[in-house]
Amino acid sequence: MSASSPFPSGLDRAATVTRLRAAGCVFAEDEARLLISAARTPAALAAMVDRRAAGQPLEHVLGWAEFCGLRIAVDPGVFVPRRRTEFLVRRAAALARRAAAPARQDTARQDTARPRAVVVVDLCCGSGAVGAALAAALGQVELYAADIDPAAVRCARRNVAAAGGRVYQGDLYEPLPARLRGRVDILAANVPYVPSGDVGLLPPEARAHEPRVALDGGADGLDVLRRVAAGAPSWLAPAGHLLVETSERQAPLAAEAVGGGLIPRVARSSRLNATVIIGTRPRGQGE
Ligand SMILES: C[S@@+](CC[C@H](N)C(=O)[O-])C[C@H]1O[C@@H](n2cnc3c(N)ncnc32)[C@H](O)[C@@H]1O
Repeated sequence: MSASSPFPSGLDRAATVTRLRAAGCVFAEDEARLLISAARTPAALAAMVDRRAAGQPLEHVLGWAEFCGLRIAVDPGVFVPRRRTEFLVRRAAALARRAAAPARQDTARQDTARPRAVVVVDLCCGSGAVGAALAAALGQVELYAADIDPAAVRCARRNVAAAGGRVYQGDLYEPLPARLRGRVDILAANVPYVPSGDVGLLPPEARAHEPRVALDGGADGLDVLRRVAAGAPSWLAPAGHLLVETSERQAPLAAEAVGGGLIPRVARSSRLNATVIIGTRPRGQGE
C-alpha cells in the first residue's frame, strides 16, 4: 500500500499511471488522478482503468465531462461535449444577455425593470451540455432541448433538470411544443458536421464510442445544418439568433445555408479552434 493511496493493494497511483501510459494515454498523470478520485474501491479503480486502457473515452469512464466549468453527466454512447463548443456557449450567452435586457422604452423605469428570462432551445442537445451551460451562465432561462437519440435524451434530462429544462425526443424541431414557434431567442444547435467520408478518420475514441448519428453530417457534413437553418426562421423570435458550430473549411457553405432565411455572420476563436455561424432573424419579419 503506497502512502498516498487509499487503496490497500493492487493498482496504486504509480501503477495506474504506468498502465494508462502503456495504453497510449497522453495525459496519464492527470487521468490517473481523476480515476483514483472517482473510484470507491480498488476493484472499481481496476475496472475503470481496464475500460480506459481498452480505449473508452475518459469521460465515459468517469461518467462526466468538464464543460464551461460544470460537471456534465455523460453516459456511455452519448457524445462527449468538446472544449471548442464553449465558444458557441459564450457567444450565445452574450446575445442572450442583450435579448434579456429591458427594452429601450423601459429605460425611464430602469430602476424597476428586470431582465426577462430568455427562451433558449438546445437542438441536437446530446448530453444537454450547451443548454445546461447557458442556463448556468444566464441565471434565468426558459430552456428546451431535443435530440433524436433516446440515450442522449435520458442523459440530457439529468443535466438540464436543475435549470427546470424540458428535453424532448425526435427529429430536429418535430418534438418541440408548437407554442415555441416565433418565440425562441437563442437557438443553439451543435449538429453533427463531419462529412460521411471522414468519419473513419476520426480518433478511435470518437469512431468506436460515440454514435454515428452524433458525428455524420452527410456527404459534405452540412446535411443536418441545412435542415436546422431552413427551419430556424419560423421558430426564432424577431431578432432571435441561431448559433451552429461548424469547421473553418465548411464555414462559407454553412453561412450560405444560414443566409437563406437569416442574416448570417461567422465567428471564430483560433484559441479553441472553433467556428460558429450566427444567423439573426431580421426584426419586422412576421411581427
Ligand atoms: C455533435 S453532437 C452534439 C451534442 C451536444 N450538442 C454537444 O455539443 O455536446 C450532435 C447530436 O445531434 C443529435 N442528432 C443528430 N441528428 C439529429 C436529428 N435529426 N434530430 C435531433 N438530433 C439529432 C445526435 O444524437 C447528437 O446527440
